[in-house]
Amino acid sequence: MSLFRPNVDAMEAYKPGEQPPAGAKVIKLNTNENPYPPSPGVAAAIRAELDAGAAPGDRLRLYCDPKATAFRQAAADATGFPFDQILHGNGSDELLAMLVRAFVGEGETIAFPYPTYVLYETLAQAQGAKIVTYDFPRDFALPPQLFGSTAKLVFLAAPNSPSGTVYGETPLRKLAQSLTNGLLVIDEAYVEFAEGHMLQLARELPNVVVLRTFSKSHSLAGMRLGLLFGPRPVVDGLWKVKDSYNLDRLAIVAGAASLKDGAWTKANAQKVKATRARLSKELAALGLEAVPSQSNFVFARCKDAATAAGAYRFLKEKGILIRYFPLRLLDDGLRITVGTDEEIDALLATLKEYLARG
Ligand SMILES: Cc1ncc(COP(=O)(O)O)c(C=O)c1O
Repeated sequence: MSLFRPNVDAMEAYKPGEQPPAGAKVIKLNTNENPYPPSPGVAAAIRAELDAGAAPGDRLRLYCDPKATAFRQAAADATGFPFDQILHGNGSDELLAMLVRAFVGEGETIAFPYPTYVLYETLAQAQGAKIVTYDFPRDFALPPQLFGSTAKLVFLAAPNSPSGTVYGETPLRKLAQSLTNGLLVIDEAYVEFAEGHMLQLARELPNVVVLRTFSKSHSLAGMRLGLLFGPRPVVDGLWKVKDSYNLDRLAIVAGAASLKDGAWTKANAQKVKATRARLSKELAALGLEAVPSQSNFVFARCKDAATAAGAYRFLKEKGILIRYFPLRLLDDGLRITVGTDEEIDALLATLKEYLARG
């Protein structure tokens, strides 16, 4: 007999992309990390925190700031968003979990398009929520059925994963205004690689929050940092369900330092965007259909699912990890993270070798 809630018994655990041990000799293009290092200010801030006090690491004796003031203040300075309308998370994944915990009772609805970030489904299942999804059309335009949704939460990744596509401000404003009963969560994990952002909607509308992560453009996936921007009443309520010390001492100073060096993050995003353009072009030249991406990855469709699955396996054998989703509407595609130019050269050469075998 299981002691778990039936919905937990019935669900599968979220499967993160493969994380080979540090130092493994692989080209890692499978989990959308940044190929470039974080701002030098980050390591300096972590060292300074470790060196402060009577002995190395002395400050680690003490609990960290539950309000992550330095991090949130740096975010307010960088964005112009009001300080008390910003909340910090242990990655944006924790903020997503907090939203589900705070807004959705058992049996209540969470809606999102399909295919998108798989964790939305996992969190909804763990909560015992009802899941309503609408398929994206082939070009990944916003499914019209989302408008007027009565869901308590509507999740929308913009840019979406794994497609890298966006929607524009006017449709998202209309979508938020059409919701009768719930919050629109715009997950901007990849926004620094896109043309525009939606912070203005979180400022103006009472039912919009925007999430950001430091795992992509800030090159800090290993630090676990995320931010939520939203209306004051929403943020105030979320504090009640937040773990007190959700960001550790080193993460707080790392996040603040990275935000203070916006030029570094921007320059890396520029490099990624230039490589992305080349990757998309070269994939098309190899006969793949690359979805136009505003993110740090490209989703490219092969002629069929068997070709895509074979390409994934061949690349893996050659030490190149990309992401393959054996799922409905995705199984003919490959999601390739934009790496350095050298990494992308290796990927393209190996893919070409595979396709030439017929
Ligand atoms: C759309 C989307 N949201 C959120 C995340 C998770 O971000 P974090 O590392 O901050 O938890 C990811 C990670 O891949 C993502 O693709």
